[in-house]
Amino acid sequence: MKRCGFLGVAALLCSFGSAQQALADGAELFADNCAICHNAGGTGTPGLAPALNRPEFWQALGDDAPTYISTVMTKGFNMPITVRGERFAGMPMIPVSAVSDEDLATIATWVLANLGELDQGVTAEDIAVVRSGALTNADLKAMRPETE
Ligand code: HEC
Repeated sequence: MKRCGFLGVAALLCSFGSAQQALADGAELFADNCAICHNAGGTGTPGLAPALNRPEFWQALGDDAPTYISTVMTKGFNMPITVRGERFAGMPMIPVSAVSDEDLATIATWVLANLGELDQGVTAEDIAVVRSGALTNADLKAMRPETE
């Protein structure tokens, strides 16, 4: 099946059907790999993991959003944050292993489109670049908009 990594041009480059299919795959991959902590639809689990359905957060990240989510998934995430009034400081998120770069890209694109209401896609190549790159949690901290 053809996958459309970049949503912004997906409508132009890919048939509508395959873009729709990529989003359906993203929902399923998120359910399988992320929802155990972040809950169904990324609504968050009190005491465990923050909500990800925060369009204002993803939109504040803007052009950094694809890099941000790719770095969190491939390098892990470990810093005290406050999301919707809850402090998350205890358990770090370890890097997501055993998921292919293509599937991570599909997840990231789905998160940005559906939980972030952003038209920014992520490709498997983007994931590979970030995975082998030098960005750390300090860089994520610098990118991250303050949330409460
Ligand atoms: C084992 C539980 C677990 C799994 C599985 C998990 N996460 Fe996380 N995630 C966390 C925790 C806990 C944090 C917060 C850690 C901290 O603040 O130190 C977090 C943080 C994040 C953040 C940063 C949020 C922010 O406000 O900056 C993103 C983005 C994220 N996760 C995305 C994902 C995605 C996408 C997946 C699936 C590929 C995933 N996570 C799988 C536990 C998990």
